[in-house]
Amino acid sequence: MNTITPYFNENDNFILYEGECNSVLDKLTEQVDMIFADPPYFLSNQKKTTAFGKPKIRDKGEWDRVLPWEEINAYNKCWITKCRKLLKENGTIWVCGTYHNIYSVEQSLIELGFKILNIVVWQKLDPPPTPYGGRLNFSAEYIIWARKSDNVPHCFNYDLLKEYNGGVEMPDVWKFARPGFWERSCGKHPTQKPLRLLYRILQVCTQEGFTVLDPFAGSCTTGIAANLMGRKFIGIDINKEFLDYGIRRKIEILDPNKADKILNKMSENPEEVTVMVNHVNQELRKKMIDCGICYLRAGDSKGSLCVTPGFERMQYVLLHTNGADCQLFKLKNKGTFQIWTKETLEKYGFTPSHSPYYIVLHFDPKTIKHLGNQVHLKEGANTFRAKIRRLSDFLGIN
Ligand SMILES: C[S@@+](CC[C@H](N)C(=O)[O-])C[C@H]1O[C@@H](n2cnc3c(N)ncnc32)[C@H](O)[C@@H]1O
Repeated sequence: MNTITPYFNENDNFILYEGECNSVLDKLTEQVDMIFADPPYFLSNQKKTTAFGKPKIRDKGEWDRVLPWEEINAYNKCWITKCRKLLKENGTIWVCGTYHNIYSVEQSLIELGFKILNIVVWQKLDPPPTPYGGRLNFSAEYIIWARKSDNVPHCFNYDLLKEYNGGVEMPDVWKFARPGFWERSCGKHPTQKPLRLLYRILQVCTQEGFTVLDPFAGSCTTGIAANLMGRKFIGIDINKEFLDYGIRRKIEILDPNKADKILNKMSENPEEVTVMVNHVNQELRKKMIDCGICYLRAGDSKGSLCVTPGFERMQYVLLHTNGADCQLFKLKNKGTFQIWTKETLEKYGFTPSHSPYYIVLHFDPKTIKHLGNQVHLKEGANTFRAKIRRLSDFLGIN
């Protein structure tokens, strides 16, 4: 039994503790499936610098002040030891950092018996200028992923990630922008992480129903991503104001419309593989599958495809009939299409009648996935427009 009262508890799905993480961790007994930690990087040295031309003091807060290296090592070892006790044998931990703390974290993890799995590079798409001379632009952070035990297998959604990445193994360099306005509407935190980063991390190694612990929760980005994906969350922070910000974010997503919008934004990926979605009647569908050819009119009227940026990321075709009986196929060549005349299509036994020219996509006729009627494809009142959509709209995250 935990011997500490939560600061906030929403239905055991989102539990927050206020306090110094080491003393809170000592009082928790629940075993968790995964830990995400964004600890102090110890980089606030209070030196004068500039940001976007204005003078600024380099200071994220008291909790982030520079410490002697030995103290940083002792600090990291202490909280990681306590986290380890709460982590299930098959659990994994993610810890963020920069050169200021990441080597210390790695050393502690290894000394405590964790097995390092990856160091993920979060490459920032919009890094701020580096304010002091003599350095390259700081445009990345590093996230160590380690499992508790050398010989107990951990949860890894390898196939799903590979599918998302167009059949190629998910790499360890991820490109995401810093948090946008859409995820900062409830308050401010000086080192808030992007929801998209947490979404990816949770996709990698968790399943619905898992419990995720964050000992440095801040504005509870981890908790918001976790709850939106059907995972439970336990967060700790020493600063009540940050937890209150997290609670406002949690309350915001209790509104299903808001939750839907944020989940949608959060799952956007600038590099995501896309799908060509096309309505065809049953007879034409059979013929298309026999030939491995999907065609549609080029242009911008209903039922035709407007070629837009993102086409180069297209790797799948989804055929449906009036929104039902959806089947997903893989393209033979990523992002490639041909323009055929009506006469060329006729040579393959098709009978196109609407246009002299067609966009033609070649796909592998082996169905990747039968999606039945579960997919929402309607746009407007009755139309099913040919459209390029994200692969994650069709492949679940659970
Ligand atoms: C890097 S921030 C985490 C930001 C968070 N990932 C987010 O997206 O908002 C680190 C947080 O740890 C908290 N913190 C620092 N030292 C702590 C300690 N010893 N115990 C608990 N919380 C601590 C700070 O208040 C801060 O909110």
